[in-house]
Amino acid sequence: MMRPAAGPPGAGVRAAPPVLSVFDDAFLRDPYPVYRALREVGPVHWSEDFSKGAWLLTRHEDVERVLRDVRFSSQRTGGWVKRIEGVDLGRAGRDTESGLTRFQRLFARAMVFLDAPEHTRLRRVMAAGFHPTLIRDLAPQIEQMVADLLDGLDAASGFDFIESVARPLPSRVIALLLGIREPDEAQFFAWADDLAVFIGALQPSAAQLRAAQRSLLQLVSYFESLLKQGSGLLGDGLIRRLARAQSMGLIQADGELLAQCAMMLFAGHETTRNLLGNGLFTLLSHPGQWASVAAQAEQMPGALREVLRYDSPVQYTGRRVSASLSLHGHHLRRGDLVIALIGSANHDPTRYVDPERFDISRRQGSHLAFGSGPHVCIGAGLSLLEADITLRAVARRWPTLQLVEAAPVWNANPALRGLKHLRVRSSTQLSPVVDRRDVGVVCAESML
Ligand code: HEM
Repeated sequence: MMRPAAGPPGAGVRAAPPVLSVFDDAFLRDPYPVYRALREVGPVHWSEDFSKGAWLLTRHEDVERVLRDVRFSSQRTGGWVKRIEGVDLGRAGRDTESGLTRFQRLFARAMVFLDAPEHTRLRRVMAAGFHPTLIRDLAPQIEQMVADLLDGLDAASGFDFIESVARPLPSRVIALLLGIREPDEAQFFAWADDLAVFIGALQPSAAQLRAAQRSLLQLVSYFESLLKQGSGLLGDGLIRRLARAQSMGLIQADGELLAQCAMMLFAGHETTRNLLGNGLFTLLSHPGQWASVAAQAEQMPGALREVLRYDSPVQYTGRRVSASLSLHGHHLRRGDLVIALIGSANHDPTRYVDPERFDISRRQGSHLAFGSGPHVCIGAGLSLLEADITLRAVARRWPTLQLVEAAPVWNANPALRGLKHLRVRSSTQLSPVVDRRDVGVVCAESML
């Protein structure tokens, strides 16, 4: 993992920290031993996995502080896309320069990549569309979507939970939230996949950049035509709300609305899919705790909190240093990239007792899986609702569900941790529970 110290540009005020290569195949399989080793060496590391390098922060306290501190800017896409412009795009690269500029502009205008005051203005507008009452009102429709997906499955023969449930559900729910009448699911998957690969890549290749650019521009044209026709949109969806905000001057007319819509897809799709997948995998890997939530569904919120801490769908996020500063004796220069390792912070032993133990009854404060501070995840309530409805329904129907493979394959995305496939099957045939109030009875049977 560690290479000899060459030192980052701009020497540390104490000593140059070691240069590290962290995000290798072993990390993708299991990042937690890597984080432990890093934490044991120190709180701040320099990594050259990112082009031009980045500072890695490992401790809960530092990760939380950086996400809340305005000296660490969220405006980080400039260097990001420009850096890739240095990659030889060949003939296609020269032909698509204006596409690249538009792509960069759209990315840069998503509120996750903005600071105050633009961020504050957009967040206020968007927050209205994520009001807890509005989200709660989506529950019956999400329950129906989950039931439709589960009805088509044969648990006795086994099924792939990712392909059958965790992948389709979030895009259907985002379409519902946005108010798209008839979403093209296959197209949504393709766009979201290209954007997730680009965002998660440490040093995106020209091909990854081209795919993300094509997908983002197609996605934006799709939203433009929905807005133009109007008939494809539901009246109370987020797109219509944003259009109203734009007509009131709260959102600028030159692409701000489209950038927020596109952001929903890349911020909410892969993340929720991985919460569902990581959640079911972790619970089934701890059969006693799975049996416990299956028997007492009211334990699900606590179980989901622990899943988010134990195996976070977002392993890290980035910031840029806006004014040179010193951190734990290291000199961070203006413009340096800082990677806040959420996955490591959530396993910090100074914050959690026995952090490598999965324990749904853990009562130790909050996790950082949804971030912290002004950019804390706006979709947290929605993704928790989706996961709660889905995992309760799965546990109710198939309390004896088991993993088919003990070691399934993880995706190759170091930032967005999730499984490629999750094959499961029900070991005994029990009649599905139709009414939630029967849960206790069925689980008593399943425990015999
Ligand atoms: C388990 C699921 C999810 C996880 C783990 C997650 C994680 C996060 C994290 C860590 C951040 C902070 C990023 C930063 O500070 O740089 C964030 C922000 C955000 N998330 Fe989520 N997210 C999830 C689901 C969703 C969903 C379902 C949506 C929308 C439909 C969504 C929309 C957003 C948006 C718009 C932001 C930016 C907020 C801002 O800049 O003010 N997320 N999310």
